[in-house]
Amino acid sequence: MFLRNCWYVAAYSSEIGDMPLARTFLNEPVLLYRTVGGKPVALEDRCCHRNLPLSMGRREGDCIRCGYHGLKFDAAGQCVEIPGQKEIPREAQVRSYPVVERWNFVWIWMGDVSKCDESQLPHWDCANDTSVTTTLGNNEKPLPMKCNWELNNDNLLDLVHVVYIHAATLGGAGLDTTPVTTERFDRSIKMTRWSEHADPPPLLARLAGFNSPDADRWQATVCEIPSHCTIDVGFCTHGTIGRDGDWDQGSRLRALITATPETDTTSFMFYCQCRNFAVGDAEVSRNFIGHVRDIFMEDITVMEGQQRINSAMPNAPRIEIRADTPVVAMHRLVEKFAAAEKLSS
Ligand code: FES
Ligand SMILES: [Fe+2]
Repeated sequence: MFLRNCWYVAAYSSEIGDMPLARTFLNEPVLLYRTVGGKPVALEDRCCHRNLPLSMGRREGDCIRCGYHGLKFDAAGQCVEIPGQKEIPREAQVRSYPVVERWNFVWIWMGDVSKCDESQLPHWDCANDTSVTTTLGNNEKPLPMKCNWELNNDNLLDLVHVVYIHAATLGGAGLDTTPVTTERFDRSIKMTRWSEHADPPPLLARLAGFNSPDADRWQATVCEIPSHCTIDVGFCTHGTIGRDGDWDQGSRLRALITATPETDTTSFMFYCQCRNFAVGDAEVSRNFIGHVRDIFMEDITVMEGQQRINSAMPNAPRIEIRADTPVVAMHRLVEKFAAAEKLSS
């Protein structure tokens, strides 16, 4: 199941250039490129003549020419030239998708164009905050995941998993015994955990030069429809900030992470990290990018394992535990949006 009337990350900005980039979203083959003026374009990756992928053709100015019989399409998907004939039938066109470029990502709207709305982009403005250092994920290439996109929401709304999956880098005592709070909003779910006298995450403490023997630690995730997560994690010397204080006074990392569905059982992970420690330190950034990739590969190994079982045993009974409250709340929200899309289609 996919939500269609929402934005998805199609690519890091740097991935889209003159050459056609072919990618599949929500089971639909899409072609991405930039016009001569630099505007990103997304077209159905299919020639309307005999279905050759247009990405196998070539760029001509702002247009793309099919590599089979030479039909030429403009950036709006309209056929503008058919070799050997003057008249161009009106139906000689392919679908074009709305795109918008924000925070070093190119976003695509896969649904009803009449409902396309930029105000529904996630609240990721910390990526523009000049007081933090932002690193883009995995050298600006998406991490492919052989799992359904929703498993990534589940993973990020239940961060106690750091104790088990990322013990050496993000784990620590005192976390998994702290209960979470769940807040429900129109388009998002928020999970918060505030742990006192907890170990800080070893990797982040090292990079931040933090060595206080007694720490408070937080984890908070906002998951916005459909899959756009802001993970806010950090730590401070015990008692110096407090749950309702200014978290920027501690060592704080906000990770902006999203999963874009490719097919029902595969997806792409895109992300960036905004940190308020070691600001501007290129060596820490380099280190950090590698570590974060390794950490996310640990998540992906788990999610792909879940997908294998989900596919093999779709009706196997499962239980819920107390820490699942935000995960279940997000499932309900996605179902509500899916039902609304069905009604309006
Ligand atoms: S398939 Fe594209 S021109 Fe024939
Ligand atoms: Fe994780």
